[in-house]
Amino acid sequence: MNIKDHIRSIPDFPKPGIMFYDISTLLAHAEAWRDTVRQLKEAVEPHKPALLVGIESRGFLAAAPLALAMGLGFVMIRKRGKLPGDIITHNYDLEYGTDTIEIQADAIKPGTRVVVLDDLLATGGTMAAAISLLRRVGADVAAAQFIIELGFLNGAAKLDVPVQSVVRYE
Ligand code: PRP
Ligand code: MG
Repeated sequence: MNIKDHIRSIPDFPKPGIMFYDISTLLAHAEAWRDTVRQLKEAVEPHKPALLVGIESRGFLAAAPLALAMGLGFVMIRKRGKLPGDIITHNYDLEYGTDTIEIQADAIKPGTRVVVLDDLLATGGTMAAAISLLRRVGADVAAAQFIIELGFLNGAAKLDVPVQSVVRYE
C-alpha cells in the first residue's frame, strides 16, 4: 500500500505559496488508513512506550487508534483553555506571536515512557513545545512519531528525540 497515493496536496492553503498535505483522503480510505496505523505501530513499538500522547487536533487522529492497537492508554495535549482541572501550561514562540498548549497535571506519572504523535512535522515548533511540556511533567519522551514529515523544512533538527515518519516529502 502506498500511503502517499492517499494523501492529497492542495496548493496555496492556508496561505499563498504553502502546499497543504491533506490527510482527509487517507482517513476516508479504510484500507489505506488501517495500513497507516499498522505502519505507525511497527515504528512505535520498538520504543516500548507505556503511554501514547497526541497533540490536538490532528495528532489525536493518529494517537487514539494507535493506542487501541497497541493496548496502551492515550493522553491529550490540548490547545489553550480546553482541559478541565489542574493543568500545566506551556507558552512557546511562533514566527509571529506566541501559542499555548496544555496538559492535565495528573495525566502522566513522572518517569513514564511516552511516544508523542502528530499528523505532520513541518517546522517542528509544535512538537518541540509538546516535548518541553511533557518533560515539565516528568515524562520520559522516547520518540516523536508523525504520519507526514516535510523534510525540506528540517523540523527534525529542533527535536532532541528520535524522529520517525510514515511518509516524507522533500
Ligand atoms: C498542524 C499539524 C501539526 C503542526 C505542524 O497543526 O497538524 O500539529 O501544524 O507544524 P509545525 O511543525 O510547523 O509546528 P495545526 O496547528 O494546523 O492544527 P490542527 O492539528 O488542529 O489542525
Ligand atoms: Mg496539528
